[in-house]
Amino acid sequence: MTVHSGTTKRRFRLGNRTRKGVLVVHIVSVGAWIGLDVVMAVLVFTGVLTDDDGTKVLAFQALELFAVWPMFISGVTCLVSGVVLALGTKYGLLRYWWVAAKLVLNVVLTALVLLSLRGGVAEVAEQGRRLAAGALDTVVAGDMMFPPIVSPTALLIAVLLSVFKPWGRIQK
Ligand code: HEM
Repeated sequence: MTVHSGTTKRRFRLGNRTRKGVLVVHIVSVGAWIGLDVVMAVLVFTGVLTDDDGTKVLAFQALELFAVWPMFISGVTCLVSGVVLALGTKYGLLRYWWVAAKLVLNVVLTALVLLSLRGGVAEVAEQGRRLAAGALDTVVAGDMMFPPIVSPTALLIAVLLSVFKPWGRIQK
């Protein structure tokens, strides 16, 4: 890790090996996050679309087991490593539109895991338990369709932004 000093301001830069190490963490956290989204999609669509009560209960309880905390940890790891990469390279945190857009996407998606997904998952898992106990006729889980559509779409946009780096600098 090195610090380059200019005539007017000192700028923090990651050394090449450190930058690559942080980039590996960043890309692995993205991979884990997208993988968790895919499993979430399989379980949610199975739970919503199946006519078999046993499968429905199993899908929503499996969702409760893995969905929230691993996804939140992947999101935070991606955010922290992304911020370190941005600050420690020529890109900067708010110097390029593609980085700023990813920052917004990452913060919003990670917040939604705790603010929206957590409650939704707990609700359908509880309904599943009551269905299994014979206290409910069905599970109402229509809203659960949104997270597995919104999250992978936003992550795909973030990957495209990372690779194509569109729109240039925020300030000339
Ligand atoms: C929203 C979730 C995110 C995804 C899916 C994502 C994805 C990626 C990917 C795939 C790369 C590798 C691109 C390449 O090497 O061609 C990358 C690099 C990078 N990301 Fe992210 N990222 C995300 C969030 C962030 C955030 C929040 C920041 C900072 C605010 C950030 C900053 C960077 C920077 C600066 C690089 C370039 C690193 C370098 O080449 O030195 N990313 N990102």
